[in-house]
Amino acid sequence: MSAIPLDQASRLRALMNAPPPRPAIAPRRRARVLAIASGKGGVGKTNIAVNLSIALARRGRRVLLVDADIGTANVDVLFNIKSRFDLSHVLRRQKRLDEITVKIDPGLRFIPGASGLADITDLSRDHRAALLDELSRLETQCDMLLLDCGAGISQNVLAFASAADETLVITTPEPTALTDAYALIKVLSQSTGTSLISLVVNQADSPREARAVHERLAATAERFLGLRIAAAGQVLRDPCVGLSVRARAPFIRQYPRCPAATCVAALAERVDRRDSDPSDSPGFFNRLISFFN
Ligand SMILES: Nc1ncnc2c1ncn2[C@@H]1O[C@H](COP(=O)(O)OP(=O)(O)OP(=O)(O)O)[C@@H](O)[C@H]1O
Ligand SMILES: [Mg+2]
Repeated sequence: MSAIPLDQASRLRALMNAPPPRPAIAPRRRARVLAIASGKGGVGKTNIAVNLSIALARRGRRVLLVDADIGTANVDVLFNIKSRFDLSHVLRRQKRLDEITVKIDPGLRFIPGASGLADITDLSRDHRAALLDELSRLETQCDMLLLDCGAGISQNVLAFASAADETLVITTPEPTALTDAYALIKVLSQSTGTSLISLVVNQADSPREARAVHERLAATAERFLGLRIAAAGQVLRDPCVGLSVRARAPFIRQYPRCPAATCVAALAERVDRRDSDPSDSPGFFNRLISFFN
């Protein structure tokens, strides 16, 4: 067999290592904002936010992932990055958002969250103004803005979820997680300017189990809240998720063909397809401001 010439071999190698070409998609005038929330903690929000962001960027979207879990931010752990600056520096007006933004992949940027900070409503007027001011700049800089929120019903979560175009509520099939998911949905439905709410069932043992979980929750929400809860999809229980977390790597990269990765790719497709250009509605920033007024 004849040897491949050196320059051709290195070109081939570069091609193999290069991420797949990103399809050309018309950029949006204003980002679509997705809040990722849950009633109970530890149900998989951060893993879904991180891997979904990567999957959406691979589909050609300009994605910005914000660690909005103010107080216990940890998305950086999954990306295995140690950033010197985070949202707390923006709040203190020491840095601008673009100075703390980290490039992860082509089409994917990340804003590290502020650990050890209080509730957004506890921030001084000045600090909150700084945050809102900076966030408003993001809307025109990306196609999708994903917010990894903290667990439960805090003012932060209500503010972000009410201002987002869509809230993905993550639950597992466990009754405790489901009860807390319903409680969150109920409070969201009563807060001003409720966005579209969709359910993602994580750690399901089968698509059938995930469907049954969605049907049960959707029926209750319809009956008692008069609210339609869309099924965004499911992520199967998969040991590759825990292994990837321990390796500090997103599972969609670490085990691209594992069941959880396949589920997230399908979730990205569904989220992307349900896409309406939100340019005509008032922006995320305006809605966030009106939440506090
Ligand atoms: N699909 C899955 N299959 C198996 N294990 C999973 C799956 N999703 C999440 N896990 C496990 O659950 C753990 C918690 O996940 P993650 O940190 O994403 O939850 P979270 O909702 O963001 O938590 P918190 O509320 O503390 O922010 C992971 O470290 C992983 O071990
Ligand atoms: Mg988390």
